[in-house]
Formats: sequence, C-alpha cells, structure tokens
Amino acid sequence: MPASATARACSNIALIKYWGNRDDALRLPANPSISFNLATLFTETTVAFGGTEADHVVIDGAPAAGEAARRVSVHLDLIRGAAGPPATVTSANNFPMGAGIASSASAFAALSVAACAALGLSKSESELSALARRGSGSASRSVPGGFVAWRDESAYTIAPAEHWPLVDVIGVVAAGHKKVGSTEGHALAGTSPLQAARVADTERRFGRCLQAIETRDFGLLADVIEQDALMMHGVMMTSDPSLLYWLPGTLAILHAVRDLRAAGVPVAFTIDAGPNVHCICEAGAEKAVASTLGALDGVQSTLISGIGGPASVIRPEAEA
Ligand code: DP6
Repeated sequence: MPASATARACSNIALIKYWGNRDDALRLPANPSISFNLATLFTETTVAFGGTEADHVVIDGAPAAGEAARRVSVHLDLIRGAAGPPATVTSANNFPMGAGIASSASAFAALSVAACAALGLSKSESELSALARRGSGSASRSVPGGFVAWRDESAYTIAPAEHWPLVDVIGVVAAGHKKVGSTEGHALAGTSPLQAARVADTERRFGRCLQAIETRDFGLLADVIEQDALMMHGVMMTSDPSLLYWLPGTLAILHAVRDLRAAGVPVAFTIDAGPNVHCICEAGAEKAVASTLGALDGVQSTLISGIGGPASVIRPEAEA
C-alpha cells in the first residue's frame, strides 16, 4: 500500500451557480449547479501519511496555518478517521489563490483523490466527488471531467469536454485574497430576500442550460448564464451584511462582453465570488475576447482555458 500519492484536479467555472446550502455542515446545496472544468488551471497535491507527529500543510511553497490548515486536517479526518496517521500535504496551484478563481474546488478535489490513493482506498468517481464536496461544495464538480452537474451528494459528467469546445477567458481585475470567502457567503445567502426566488427559479435555469449544452446553442447559453450570475450577485449584494465583489474593472468587462456579443462574437460573462470575470466563448473567439479585455482599464491580466478532464492520480502511476 503506497503511503504517498499525488493527484491533479482542475478548477471549474459554474454556468449555473451554487450559492447557499440546505445543510451547511454537509455542504448539501440549496440548488443544483452546472460547470465545466478548466484544463489549464489546476492544483497538484501530494499527501504522504506517516513520518510526522501532526499534519503539516504546505500551500504554494509556504506552510499553511490557521483556518486553511485546519480545513485540510478536518477533511483528512473524514478519509483516514480521526485516529488515522498524520500527513504531510503539499499543494501547488498554477493560478492565483483567493481571487474568485475557485482554488478550493481544485484543492479539495485533488486532496480527496490523493489522500484516498495514498491510503489505498478504492473509491468510485461518485464517492470521491461526494468526499470532495465535504471540503468545498464546488470541489464535487472538479472530480468528474468535462461538463458537470451537481444536485445532491455528488456531481456527474453531463457531456465530455469534446462535446462543445468552449473557452473561458478570465479577466483578472484583482488577484489578492477576497475579504469574504465563499463559506461565509453561503451562510449569508438566506439573509437576502432574493435568495428564495433565486432558488425557486433554479430548475428553469438548470433546464435551459442543459438544453443549451445539449444543442450547442450559444445564444441560449449566453442568456441563461448571464442571468444566473446576475441573480447570484443580486443575492450577494442584498445579503445582510451586503457582499459587493464588483470593482470598476468588473463592470467594464461586463459592458465589453455585451458589446462584443452585439457585434457577433459568441461570448458571455459569468462571475464567481470575486471581482474577476469569466468570459465564456466558443473556440476561435478567445483571441478577440482576450485582446478586448486586455485593453480595458482595471484589467490586470487574462487567463485562458479550454475544458478539462477529471481529477486523477498522477503519482504513483497506475500499472498498465
Ligand atoms: C460563487 O465551493 O467555494 O463559486 O463550499 O464554502 O468551499 P465552499 O464554497 P465554494 O462556493 C462556490 C461558489 C461560487 C459558485 C459556484 O462555483 O457554483
């Protein structure tokens, strides 16, 4: 049984957003969501059991302490049992943490897959997704590959990456840590009078998004994902306390995307719990989108990604 394993998991971008839990402790979502994995934005995590007296967590080359380290240990306890062996966890993201580019999604997906592999536990994709969910809700969607849906305990692939080669051009407006993270935000969702209406309408948006993906209908996709993101931000802005993630650069991108689409470029926006804007476009449009974004005031940089595959163990390599 190997005591150490390394896994890689992609980040994902939600097209229909997860915001609010029906059970905070279990991270069971208030509404179903849909996402696709981001091939070029990933986390690689090595979990090595034994050899230390307590868990030791290193994230992007620096020892983690406080809440970040505690969250990893609590998650490991779910996998090894509270009396299980301590671990050294070494995790590296190839994108900025805490900027609304879901680093917790790829992090908890990679951690779950690596820890199970290191302990020799053989789990199905659905079991691994349910486990990842306990660490971070959106991490459930980074375990399966391609276009993914998540409704209850675990997420599942609804279409492979090749089905529709969409590209995410991320306009980075701020790369620092956000003031209010998602976990706190989910707990506030119910304080907005708009959340109940958003949740009640989710099946309609979910169905339209599925249909857009199935039929590769970009116009329908654009309408539904922009509406969904704006509904989530409406809830955020009207929570108590209010969460206002947008910066001037955010709004500049939203208008630029609408202008591009009016000019015939297949692009639409979505925004997570941060100021950065994910511009979802059809393959071939990414250069035009990135150069438009790059010329806007307040946009620091752009990141580009196609659709990624499932989380996987990369070391030790599986025997042929
Ligand atoms: C706005 O999965 O990061 O990105 O479960 O507390 O870790 P925790 O929250 P998280 O929430 C993601 C929220 C979102 C929308 C989405 O990805 O669906």
